[in-house]
Amino acid sequence: MNRLHASHSTPPHTAVVGLQWGDEGKGKIVDLLTARHDVIVRYNGGANAGHTVAVAGERYALHLIPSGILYSDKTCVIGNGVVVDPEKLLEEMATLRGRGIEVGDNLKVSNRAHLVLPYHKEQDAAYEEFLAARSGLGEANAAIGTTRRGIGPAYADKVRRSTALRVGDLLHPERLRSRLEISCGLRAAEMAALGVKAPAPDPVDLTERFAAFGAALRPHITDSVYLLHDLVAEGRSLLFEGANASLLDIDHGTYPFVTSSNCSSLGIPAGTGLPGRLVERVVGIMKSYSTRVGGGPFPTELLDETGDRIRERGREYGTTTGRPRRCGWLDVVAVRYAAMICGADALACTLLDVLSGLDELKICTAYRRGGQRTERFLPDAEDLEGWVPEYETLPGWSEEIVDTSDRSGLPANAQRYLERIEELVGVPIELVGVGPERNQTLATSAWRDPPGR
Ligand code: IMP
Repeated sequence: MNRLHASHSTPPHTAVVGLQWGDEGKGKIVDLLTARHDVIVRYNGGANAGHTVAVAGERYALHLIPSGILYSDKTCVIGNGVVVDPEKLLEEMATLRGRGIEVGDNLKVSNRAHLVLPYHKEQDAAYEEFLAARSGLGEANAAIGTTRRGIGPAYADKVRRSTALRVGDLLHPERLRSRLEISCGLRAAEMAALGVKAPAPDPVDLTERFAAFGAALRPHITDSVYLLHDLVAEGRSLLFEGANASLLDIDHGTYPFVTSSNCSSLGIPAGTGLPGRLVERVVGIMKSYSTRVGGGPFPTELLDETGDRIRERGREYGTTTGRPRRCGWLDVVAVRYAAMICGADALACTLLDVLSGLDELKICTAYRRGGQRTERFLPDAEDLEGWVPEYETLPGWSEEIVDTSDRSGLPANAQRYLERIEELVGVPIELVGVGPERNQTLATSAWRDPPGR
């Protein structure tokens, strides 16, 4: 395993998903893989996701647009499973264009993706405040700590159907207007019931603003399902970029402290209209420790100096909200579960350099409560309550590793740490992140010369 270099053979259709609670450093791995694929597809989430990509010394913070946009020869698709805030999307497009990045035919947005409207963001905040005011009812009923990007309310409307709007509606002002009349009326009633003293959303004003967004987005709006099937038929290779992460998956994460979409690889078929069997390879991204933003269970959380040290060395502050992230030891019970539901074929273990200088490292290998012990994850906040981690302790290393160019060149204890993770998760680590730059990634030979399809 040594440093990664670009390769030009056609790789299999690949998914990249986070195996923890987000912020695993997916952006960099997606960016490395983007170089080898033709089409980069988002299938879930919205502007709650955020990653920063550094290319040629420039840093780009992206929330909705796949980082493939930074390459002029890639097609980027925002699939039907995403919730799109058109204002944010247009802002992101304008920022990229302002920095000389082409955003034209290379960006496609599904006409069936649902819209995030301003009132969704207001509702997101109002629900959070409603929950926070009742936090005395116990941890499982506390506020979720959302990004307040309107994600939950937008997906709730999707499920409620009659009050939802989709990207395709932006192109039909009369349809937009009639749907907004219903939706705004209901919203005003709900917000009044929650005691929010905000002016009621105005359907006429919103129709005007959103029709203008539609006009600006028209060249990008398409039937993404046929588009993706056509691209597959032409022999293009697809890269699916999972936003958020598996332990935040609405069905399989630490419910209710999750986001509102299927952010594991299980979201791909529904969020794109492509059959699940199309995905030939799943790369699971995991940090060499754990972090979480927002509320919810976190069995290995460190509320001490070690946690602070990891936060500072790892620059663990949110890309989307700037919030400090909660930090803790690696939880292999959680990662093994996430790798299982995602069908991970390979792991990328990121931010290993952050652990340099710690005398010893702990890995959670099981949970204990009273006389009970389990090696199985409990994807429910209330079920997880009271379980404490059982740790295995490994020796740390003092050397800085950012300049390492080969896995065999890592300190012996760092190599041992990686090997133990592979044994415990049961999936090989094919990429190791030793620094923030694109070339600070150690890869197995399969990555330097990947198999063709
Ligand atoms: P929402 O997605 O804004 O509704 O937030 C729900 C939970 O998911 C909160 O705890 C957020 O902090 C968390 N979350 C959502 N997206 C991300 C992400 O991309 N990285 C890390 N946490 C996230």
